[in-house]
Amino acid sequence: MTETAEQQANPLADGLSFRRTPDPCALVIFGASGDLTHKKLMPALYSLAFRQLLPARFAIVGVARTEGDDDSWRDDMKQAVQKYARDEFRQDVWDELASAMHYVSTDFADAGGEAALEKLVAREEQEHTLGGNRVYYLAVPPPAFPTIVEALGKQRSATGWTRLIVEKPFGHDLESAKKLNKLLWRHFDESEIFRIDHYLGKETVQNMLALRFANGIFEPIWNRQFIDHVQITVAESIGIEGRAGYYEQAGAIRDIFQNHLLQMLALTAMEPPIDFKADSVHNEKVKVLKALHTPGPKSVVRGQYGRGFVEGEEVVGYREEQGVASDSMTETFVAAKLFVDNWRWADTPFYVRMGKRLARRETTIAIQFKRAPHPPFEETASEGLRPNVLLVHVQPDEGVSLAIGAKVPGQGMTIRTVHMDFLYGGAFRTGMPEAYERLILDTMLGDGTLFTRSDEVEEQWLLVDAIVAAWQRDRPAFPNYAAGTWGPPSSEELLQRDGRSWRRH
Ligand SMILES: NC(=O)c1ccc[n+]([C@@H]2O[C@H](COP(=O)([O-])OP(=O)(O)OC[C@H]3O[C@@H](n4cnc5c(N)ncnc54)[C@H](OP(=O)(O)O)[C@@H]3O)[C@@H](O)[C@H]2O)c1
Repeated sequence: MTETAEQQANPLADGLSFRRTPDPCALVIFGASGDLTHKKLMPALYSLAFRQLLPARFAIVGVARTEGDDDSWRDDMKQAVQKYARDEFRQDVWDELASAMHYVSTDFADAGGEAALEKLVAREEQEHTLGGNRVYYLAVPPPAFPTIVEALGKQRSATGWTRLIVEKPFGHDLESAKKLNKLLWRHFDESEIFRIDHYLGKETVQNMLALRFANGIFEPIWNRQFIDHVQITVAESIGIEGRAGYYEQAGAIRDIFQNHLLQMLALTAMEPPIDFKADSVHNEKVKVLKALHTPGPKSVVRGQYGRGFVEGEEVVGYREEQGVASDSMTETFVAAKLFVDNWRWADTPFYVRMGKRLARRETTIAIQFKRAPHPPFEETASEGLRPNVLLVHVQPDEGVSLAIGAKVPGQGMTIRTVHMDFLYGGAFRTGMPEAYERLILDTMLGDGTLFTRSDEVEEQWLLVDAIVAAWQRDRPAFPNYAAGTWGPPSSEELLQRDGRSWRRH
């Protein structure tokens, strides 16, 4: 069944065919031969083409230093689409997309290296009347940013708009992030800069806003009076997938905590924005990030995986991974207790944890409510009753679940916890778009709501820098958790000290 037919048969899908059409434009992808372009960007563009969401007049220009031409790049990208796209491969959709694709092999570090690109883009703009509108996507390693940004700044199109997508990591500490911001601002206005945190493109992360602000029942209880604590988990079962060079420098704190995790926390904790425009949402998120702190070094624990079994398969420890130093002190796990110092959240802990080679892939936000003040039942009746939890499944099994107490059928009064579940797949009966589809389209539309503003990024680094500085003082005995578990014992102790525990799995 095609998606359209499914939606027609499904009344809950009313309005899903809502379309926003961007202006004609050229999308220039730097890093056209890289992993991100293969696995995410081209499959996303194919899915947008599949749904006819791309502008009618459009060009994609891939740039990399690797030798190649239009035909070789198209062949390479076709294979990537066939392998990684979420939609079936349709030759007619591909042919139309491929006819808009061109490749430039050049190195911006060479004198005049940018001329070949400029010539090609100008030709496409003239041929297809693209109006000088350009999106530049920096899918290259961060050391390549300055040369490219300086060159782009100097050759801005005289007509139309220009937008720049910057991939993560955005710096490796506060100082480098500020330096990068300054570089970008020399050539681009803040409104032209789209800093990617692809978690914000996930439907389920955006649904946190719908859940909170489109329902009258949650917001009145979304505060310290009713919420005992919040738990956010970003668990990966995979290891570093051959990316030792990057991960040895980043670790879990820079790879996940600094960006995805803090952004999810900010959306969970922020005040209602006055509207859903970029600045209104960024203003509220940045207030949360400014108010965020850890109570002390003991409130942050780190871990590194050793050998173990993940999903039945034996895997090596982090220090045995290819390209990793045998005495590496890079953390592959972080758990922390954080507080948001404001009127709504004072004294309400936000426990967060993230790691690689954990027991299962799971990203969840769990809002644990306080217990009912005075259950009028016998103690034995409610032994199996846990506090109410609103659980947002970001991935996989996307949906929302509310844990409530219910009477077990039969004589007498026995109460147990049951779950009211909403599953995306079941309710809307439509595939979930990939985050990059939404984010590429939003950039073409000039909508920066689901991107991060400079001050958010800087606040995030401020917290990370403080944590990393405290880590310099001690040297934990790594590895300290076995692959396939839920992290080191110190992660459990972090909550046990407060009389709480991580949500059971
Ligand atoms: N892969 C992912 O899933 C992922 C996820 C989140 C963020 N990112 C970010 O996306 C960016 C690209 O990652 P990737 O995984 O695609 O890396 P990658 O596989 O190593 O590809 C890097 C790309 O950049 C080009 N490149 C490398 N050095 C360059 C230079 N000095 N000047 C110009 N081009 C250069 C490479 O092509 P040539 O060597 O042919 O020039 C290649 O096309 C990074 O910032 C990364 O952190 C990636």
